[in-house]
Amino acid sequence: MKKLFIANWKMQLDYNGSLALAKLYQKNLKKVKNEIVIAPDFTALSALKEILKKSPLKLGAQDCAFGLKGAYTGEVSAKSLKQLGVKYVLIGHSERRGYFKEDSGLLKFKIAAALENGLVPVLCIGENLTAHKTKKAHAVLRRQLEEVLFGMDISNDNSLVIAYEPIWAIGSGKAMASAEVEASHVFIKGVLAELIGQIPRVLYGGSVSAQNALDLLEWPNIDGLLVGGASLKVDEFSKIVNV
Ligand code: PGA
Repeated sequence: MKKLFIANWKMQLDYNGSLALAKLYQKNLKKVKNEIVIAPDFTALSALKEILKKSPLKLGAQDCAFGLKGAYTGEVSAKSLKQLGVKYVLIGHSERRGYFKEDSGLLKFKIAAALENGLVPVLCIGENLTAHKTKKAHAVLRRQLEEVLFGMDISNDNSLVIAYEPIWAIGSGKAMASAEVEASHVFIKGVLAELIGQIPRVLYGGSVSAQNALDLLEWPNIDGLLVGGASLKVDEFSKIVNV
């Protein structure tokens, strides 16, 4: 199966900056052997759809509303994202869990909204530093998966993606050791098989760089990468996706 790479531009770029970077991506990544997705902020999606029209690069969103439609001031529906050509949507990134207090109950609705509109939710999970140090990471991951996915009907293994991002590795310059990531992915896949009877792709995120990408991708259960900081530099991102 092709590896999946998602560039999470977060709120690092303004509208003009997003368009400029998308044009560089389009120029530098004309032929790709893997699946590559750009997740800009909401305002840039429409323009990126145009820029990437003839490109193999796909569009992702960083979040979506929990409601399908209605009086939810400030929210963006999964349906609108679908109409803008979005294929993947991040759900429950640790920055949203942290800053916006998104909890599992809310994430369940977001996943359902994404699925109902034909988007592929990318559920982000990961332990904090304390859990990591006290060897409680697996318990945290199991709980995060169970709380959101219990009772959900996931029709096949392509309709969901999991992004494993240890919180302490995000933006810290300290990626988790690849053997440890592989062990976590094996654990996550075991839980998923039990819980939803499917084994979707599991991506790793957290200080991915051109230096560590190859090492991570050599492991059989690391199905791709969710890249933040290194996705803002087209040369580095091209190296990562072409390893
Ligand atoms: P990072 O971010 O690559 O800058 O660590 C990853 C993420 O938060 O998705």
